[in-house]
Amino acid sequence: MTLHKISITINGGLEEVMVPSNMTLLRMLRETLSLTGTKNGCSAGECGACTVLLNGEPVNSCMVLAAECDGATVLTVEGLAQEQRLAPVQEALIQEGGVQCGFCTPGVLISSYALLERNPSPDEDEIREALVGNLCRCTGYVRIVKGVKKAAKMQAMPS
Ligand code: FES
Ligand code: FES
Repeated sequence: MTLHKISITINGGLEEVMVPSNMTLLRMLRETLSLTGTKNGCSAGECGACTVLLNGEPVNSCMVLAAECDGATVLTVEGLAQEQRLAPVQEALIQEGGVQCGFCTPGVLISSYALLERNPSPDEDEIREALVGNLCRCTGYVRIVKGVKKAAKMQAMPS
């Protein structure tokens, strides 16, 4: 198997990694870099548990080859908290009870974070649309949607 050397910025830190041609970004994050916050639900691009931001856009990392990510910037759930403080979207999801088993949560958080970056005040339809690729078997989504709305309000408040 051919190995590729890639340089990739993950959660603000530059990493140089040797990756086999067939290794996905998800496997590289979890197995090579021990960033296990990003989950593997289906390995088939269907559940969204593996969602990360790749160059600012949410992607299913199980469907991206690591070797294609040379020079890219990635944000995983581990990169959301800053200086020991949870991001508003993390805090709000907890407060609204949008986390149950937690398996979908890293992907939900990343998709919600990306939505709030491009639309600081989304309505319910926009939130549901942004989360259409993130399957949650536990919450019925109502509390997740409330959490994202609350995060938008928290982000709008002066700190
Ligand atoms: S693990 Fe990637 S979409 Fe399910
Ligand atoms: S909280 Fe369990 S799958 Fe979403």
